[in-house]
Amino acid sequence: MSTLLNKKDFYNLDKNDIIELLQLDSDSMIDLVKKANEIRLKYRGDKVYFRGLIEYSNICKKNCLYCGIRSGNKNFIRYTIQDDEFFDAVKFAIRERYGSIVIQSGENTSPAFIDKITEYIREIKNISNNKLGITLSLGEQSFETYKKWYDAGAHRYLLRIEESHPELYKKLHPQDGNHDFAARYNCLLNLKNIGYQLGTGIMIGLPFQTIEHLAEDLIFMRDLDIDMCGMGPYIEHPDTPLYQYKDDLWPLKERFNLTLKMIAILRLMMPDINIAATTAMQAIDPMGREKALQAGANVLMPNITPKQYREEYLLYENKPCIDENPDDCISCLDARVQMVGYQVGYDDWGDSAHYFNRKKL
Ligand code: 5AD
Ligand code: SF4
Ligand code: FES
Repeated sequence: MSTLLNKKDFYNLDKNDIIELLQLDSDSMIDLVKKANEIRLKYRGDKVYFRGLIEYSNICKKNCLYCGIRSGNKNFIRYTIQDDEFFDAVKFAIRERYGSIVIQSGENTSPAFIDKITEYIREIKNISNNKLGITLSLGEQSFETYKKWYDAGAHRYLLRIEESHPELYKKLHPQDGNHDFAARYNCLLNLKNIGYQLGTGIMIGLPFQTIEHLAEDLIFMRDLDIDMCGMGPYIEHPDTPLYQYKDDLWPLKERFNLTLKMIAILRLMMPDINIAATTAMQAIDPMGREKALQAGANVLMPNITPKQYREEYLLYENKPCIDENPDDCISCLDARVQMVGYQVGYDDWGDSAHYFNRKKL
């Protein structure tokens, strides 16, 4: 067992410590995962919070070199969910006693889009009697837009930094003036200043990425003092420029184990934040999300997008549940959560305890 796991102060793990933990082999990794689970139970209890995920539109103005729905990919149909379908999904979340929903979309900064989302946020608050928590995951927007949505009632925002090193960020994004690390980082600061619970995250196993990068990504998240994290393995998509590096990547199993270790280490460093068990984990291992829960994650994002759209929101290959209706995932997920020893936190926003601790609320 790594002596590091006997430490009292995980907050101050340094880069070398983190690298040592990331390099644990699959046997010694068990101790790390166990420790993370202990800390999770101590600080966040045994609840798993559901956020019903609505993939509102796959229209995206960005062209990230890794992503299946990048604007340059013409091999699939672009959609935007209709109002009635959107509210059917919202009502489904209310009926199933999900505490929160996440509205996710490709990046769109048109006034029509911004107004539509504002209207939706108000209406969700209205029809749920303020019971449904709202997380947004709608990419880079202006300060004013973030503020408008916050004032309308959204209280959490997820914007993955994707990769916290400016020079690696450059290699993974086109240099067209529309993919700027500094601009993205500034969005994170704006979101925090406005008062959102701030979520970010990265992908694990990207081309050109090293263990050192991953260790520094964790330090980046600690220094930014985030409230929530969603990170998952990178999964290559054939219709993207980065697919050419598919043979140089870490094997899927290794990307998966590294993600588990990243989750566990982050849980040790930041015991009171929310960490999502991401869908990409399940794309690699049928029990992927459950394993993430056991390594320190405490949030699940069941997909409640109407079935007819799911196939068109393929950020990566092997995305699970694209043939399922939301109803099918419900009982399946509850059973899966209980199977690994946790309880679903129904009717509960499941906010990040870290947010309230850092605000001293
Ligand atoms: N593999 C894994 N995750 C991906 N994302 C985009 N493309 C991929 C991929 N090929 C992630 C990004 C984005 C989130 C919505 O999906 O991190 O922020
Ligand atoms: Fe658009 Fe997000 Fe995909 Fe980039 S990762 S192309 S911003 S949906
Ligand atoms: Fe979708 Fe099990 S989570 S069918």
